[in-house]
Amino acid sequence: MPFLQIPLLTVLLVTAGDNEYAFQEEISFKIIHSSSFYNHSWVKSRQSGWLGDLQTHGWDTNSGRITFLRPWSKGNLSKEEIKELLEFNHALFIELRIELQRRASQWQLKYPFEVQLTAGCELHPGGAIVAFYRFAYQGSELLHFQNSSWWPSVKDEIRAQLMSRRFNQYHVANKIIQRILSDTCPRFLLSMLDAGKADLQREVKPEAWLSTGPNPGPDRQMLVCHVSGFHPKPIWVKWMRGEQVQQGTQQSGILPNADGTWYLQVFLDVEATETSGLYCRVRHSSLGGQDILLYLEHPHNSVGLIILAVMVPLVLLTALAFWLRKPWPLFTF
Ligand SMILES: *[C@@H]1O[C@H](CO)[C@@H](O)[C@H](O)[C@H]1NC(C)=O
Ligand SMILES: *[C@@H]1O[C@H](CO)[C@@H](O)[C@H](O)[C@H]1NC(C)=O
Repeated sequence: MPFLQIPLLTVLLVTAGDNEYAFQEEISFKIIHSSSFYNHSWVKSRQSGWLGDLQTHGWDTNSGRITFLRPWSKGNLSKEEIKELLEFNHALFIELRIELQRRASQWQLKYPFEVQLTAGCELHPGGAIVAFYRFAYQGSELLHFQNSSWWPSVKDEIRAQLMSRRFNQYHVANKIIQRILSDTCPRFLLSMLDAGKADLQREVKPEAWLSTGPNPGPDRQMLVCHVSGFHPKPIWVKWMRGEQVQQGTQQSGILPNADGTWYLQVFLDVEATETSGLYCRVRHSSLGGQDILLYLEHPHNSVGLIILAVMVPLVLLTALAFWLRKPWPLFTF
């Protein structure tokens, strides 16, 4: 199947047919659990669920309650199935915490330390779904789960070997994990993509504006093009002059807004005397080929000023005429 690597296309094109998905890139659902072990009695845990870059599930740390952040975050799982998953999840992390605290010195885990578990499944463009479950210590992957067992991700790592050996003694839990990964997760992912189709594929136009950043040096200027409120995530933003993309255009990460849309800044460091004719160009699927062009120095500035110079007194005169002719509406009874 030929692949068009055009960043403008939506990442995900879910076809009308049942359970038939066609898209440009893989998309995954994952649950990320992280625990900070401050000392042998103090642990802080956080957990969240993500569909691609979009957070779909949150957890209240104190009550352990899950929050469904999207109307479609439950996919088509039944109430009972969700309850069962949450109970298993809860039990698993309590057990994990106990194990890590009990064996911290044996496994040479030095306080304070951070562990992260990432479990999920990924749908590939051909339709294959690959599940994964990884355990990381201090930000580096130590173990991964495959065929109902834990395996060291780094060879010759004594800690990884000891830990995988211990984790593999949990036969029943590992059987359940295997089932969740190979059966529940793919079903859940597909059903969420289906239920959330309208939301995931919605087109929202970006707003864009310009500003200047802190001066990068004497006689230089930092130009900033802000683009916000767009959906889906793929976007193309460049500083240009004429048809030329400016070398040295730099881009921030694409950051999430609270409403599920995206935000981005694109920078250009230029000589203060070299700014004329520069503009920021924004291309996005929601704009239907009509790029947004934002000029640093508006070529019609002088015309604008003349219009303003004529309009302002005109408006004031009209207002004055009205005011003199009629009693002020607030004072009429
Ligand atoms: C563990 O760490 C927490 C948070 O830093 C602190 O409040 C508590 O006193 C510590 N407990 C022990 C036993 O060191
Ligand atoms: C839920 O959705 C999945 C994927 O679309 C499908 O395979 C499964 O049959 C659905 N289950 C129910 C109970 O509707």
